[in-house]
Amino acid sequence: MTQAPGPRDPGPAAVDPREFRDTVGRFPTGVAIVTCRTAEGEDVGMTMSSFSSVSLEPPLVLFSVDCRAYSLSAWEQADAYGINVLAEGQHELSNRFARPLGEKWEGVSVQRGIHGVPLIDGAIAQLECVPYAQYDGGDHSIFVARVVRLRQANRADPLVFALGRYNHLRPGPLGPPDWPLPIHY
Ligand SMILES: Cc1cc2nc3c(=O)[nH]c(=O)nc-3n(C[C@H](O)[C@H](O)[C@H](O)COP(=O)(O)O)c2cc1C
Repeated sequence: MTQAPGPRDPGPAAVDPREFRDTVGRFPTGVAIVTCRTAEGEDVGMTMSSFSSVSLEPPLVLFSVDCRAYSLSAWEQADAYGINVLAEGQHELSNRFARPLGEKWEGVSVQRGIHGVPLIDGAIAQLECVPYAQYDGGDHSIFVARVVRLRQANRADPLVFALGRYNHLRPGPLGPPDWPLPIHY
């Protein structure tokens, strides 16, 4: 069931956008370049930290796109998405695909996935997806996609984004959480 958009009780105090960004930025994420290929054969790619897994069965993921992004209509019309999870050494690629428009693809080595979607060499994971649902997300649009093929490409550390900057995963993991996680109702 899709819940109707909009707050039920917004409360008395407005949230300051800068404080909101800084606060949620304390939650670290990876960085992905999400790609698609338009009907005209143009490759589209955009750096996204909003990528997240959603469901195991069916296998669903999501990413959210700023409604001001030049590429918004490409995501809405795409028949496939490629999700390229970046390795630590790919932060310059992340910067390049975070620029609006521009020549993002020059010198980027890709393989082709379903519907010709670009899969970027050197990414540590590549997921090929088809559109599943799209939801209103305020000033972003939320795309839910069904994963149809995936590949763990190499063992490099992931690029980490937190506190408004790129970070290293090292100097070393703190260990796994207590398994099994209490999500098996
Ligand atoms: C680390 C990082 C993460 C980002 N995550 C997102 C995201 O999840 N959604 C989004 O809309 N923009 C995100 N951006 C910004 C877009 O990559 C940027 O606006 C891009 O230039 C849009 O491309 P376009 O306007 O050519 O379509 C992120 C940027 C960086 C550097």
